[in-house]
Amino acid sequence: MANVRVCAIGTGRAGMVHARNFRWHVPHAELVAVVDANAESVAAAALELGLEGFGFTDLGSALAATSFDAVVITTPTFTHAPLVREAAGHGLHVLCEKPMALSVAECDEMIGACERAKVTLQLAFMRRFDPPFVQARQQLDDGAIGEVLMVRSLTRGPGLPPAWANDLRTSNGMLAEVNSHDFDAVRWLSGSEYAEVHVRAAARKRPDLRATLPDFYDVAVVSAVMRSGAFGIIDGVCPADYGYDARAEIVGSGGVLFAGDIRSPGAQRVTRDGGAVGPHFTAWRERFAEAYRAEAMHFVESVRAGSVPRVGGVDGRAAVAAVVAANRSYLEGRAVAVDG
Ligand SMILES: NC(=O)c1ccc[n+]([C@@H]2O[C@H](COP(=O)([O-])OP(=O)(O)OC[C@H]3O[C@@H](n4cnc5c(N)ncnc54)[C@H](O)[C@@H]3O)[C@@H](O)[C@H]2O)c1
Repeated sequence: MANVRVCAIGTGRAGMVHARNFRWHVPHAELVAVVDANAESVAAAALELGLEGFGFTDLGSALAATSFDAVVITTPTFTHAPLVREAAGHGLHVLCEKPMALSVAECDEMIGACERAKVTLQLAFMRRFDPPFVQARQQLDDGAIGEVLMVRSLTRGPGLPPAWANDLRTSNGMLAEVNSHDFDAVRWLSGSEYAEVHVRAAARKRPDLRATLPDFYDVAVVSAVMRSGAFGIIDGVCPADYGYDARAEIVGSGGVLFAGDIRSPGAQRVTRDGGAVGPHFTAWRERFAEAYRAEAMHFVESVRAGSVPRVGGVDGRAAVAAVVAANRSYLEGRAVAVDG
């Protein structure tokens, strides 16, 4: 295959990160159309991307107007399963944003649909393409710190996500919307599947949201046991106000690895009266800018080569299984086994 023709579905916050990358920054990719259920959003996106006349409010209309090989799906979680099934039904390769879906059953349907259609399914866990995280995984593979005893992974987001993401019924809540990446990172870095999770969560930043969403939470701590015997610790806060904080620590039998830093590259200033002052990350778009591009490039390379992507449906499904168990743990106040 020469170039991969791509349609971006979803032109909201994360959708435009992908759309701009596929339009301008990914070799052998051509962004040829954008789709969003919101006509105003898609019109603005098409204008910015120089794709006037190629903005549509549904996938069928886009396919009727032009041809493409692949879609990147960046719509709310509850739409991922039907959109992936529809795309696979048209023989389109899929890069799907996390969380993969709301339930393990939906993930199984999505994996089955892509397998039957023989199309690529990549999940957008961009930490798998972020240099510090990739280097940590490489050092674990090299045996640099011995056996993994514990992985701590955290995400504290700067602002509340869109309204649909506050509702457990449409998003699986903060543990899915914000901490999906951590559920994947603990599994990836420990090299083991989840056995059990136990969660404490509370609405401390926006208790007012409980008036309409009684199960809403914005601060959470997860303790996990992996099948290898390693422990996982995940924490999340959203909104964290102080910036965008995404880090992991892996404690091994022979050392510790640190991946990620809230401090961004740049001059650090230290003065007698002002103390130490330096720049820090305030948004996921900037912290993972390089990783978003690398994951898009990997997707295009996998489609062109017909090879299996580094992170796929099985990984998305495992994170969903852990998140579903974690929410049950929160709601029932007990440790819950994770169905594999
Ligand atoms: N990987 C990351 O770092 C990252 C960051 C943010 C969001 N996300 C993920 O991206 C997805 C979208 O999140 P967001 O924050 O961009 O949401 P958003 O609400 O900003 O944007 C979603 C867009 O999808 C559109 N939409 C809704 N239903 C649709 C449908 N059926 N067909 C076409 N368009 C539809 C909406 O009109 C909206 O423009 C979620 O899965 C979220 O978890 C990932």
